[in-house]
Amino acid sequence: MKPEVQPNKIVVFSGSGISAESGLPTFRDSNGLWNSFSWEEVASPAGWKERPEAVLAFYNERRRDAWKALPNPGHLAVASLESAYEVVVITQNVDELHERAGSTQVIHVHGQLAFARGTSESRRRYRIDNAPIALGQLCEDGTQLRPDIVWFGEEVEYMQEARRHVATAGKVLVVGTSLSVFPAASLVKAARGRAEKVLVALETEKPPFGFQFVQGKAGTVLPILTKRWLAEAGQTS
Ligand code: APR
Repeated sequence: MKPEVQPNKIVVFSGSGISAESGLPTFRDSNGLWNSFSWEEVASPAGWKERPEAVLAFYNERRRDAWKALPNPGHLAVASLESAYEVVVITQNVDELHERAGSTQVIHVHGQLAFARGTSESRRRYRIDNAPIALGQLCEDGTQLRPDIVWFGEEVEYMQEARRHVATAGKVLVVGTSLSVFPAASLVKAARGRAEKVLVALETEKPPFGFQFVQGKAGTVLPILTKRWLAEAGQTS
């Protein structure tokens, strides 16, 4: 039995493109991170085993930049929807710009820069804000601390919960993601036939089935789209 669709529920599934206008690089665009870094070296268990100092340096720099960044009109538009809708943000991003913009329900499926965790089974997690992680810095069970980020080949978090949210949403907004990394990208398939489905990106090969593609920058398109959705819910100012 499929769960009930809630017309007043919006799920926003975001990727690095929504943070591009806050000065944070995406991964696969022309100035994307994977053009200047090898993900095998800095974002995989094998890279961590081989050169942990390179992995820590990569994420220490990203943590510093993300901490200094400010939410842009795209993040703010998403947060504004909470005045008339139940909104769940499912993000692949490891920055906290959705929360800083005021979004109250944010699920990070690829981890968060502001946290570190131990490397033992217990996976103890620590909030570190913008502090760097150093080699030799141990967690309380004596294992090396690492960034609390999901690396390639590692298990993605909260997928079941995320899929359930998408499957019960009356509106699904996908923004700033190339939908090229799985299993996160498979979440769009859980969107229901009767749901309004919108994809916002600079370009896309083929929008997922049933999605209306709106080409443009999140900071420009989202304020217009969310204003329309708020008006639909009777909110005009
Ligand atoms: N507004 C809207 N979309 C934008 C903007 C913008 N200002 N700038 C770029 N984009 C779009 C691009 O068109 C592209 O489709 O954002 C997308 C960025 O795609 P990727 O670089 O592939 O990033 P993302 O989809 O977030 O990557 C997914 O891959 O590397 C891993 O774990 C990492 O979470 C990440 C995952």
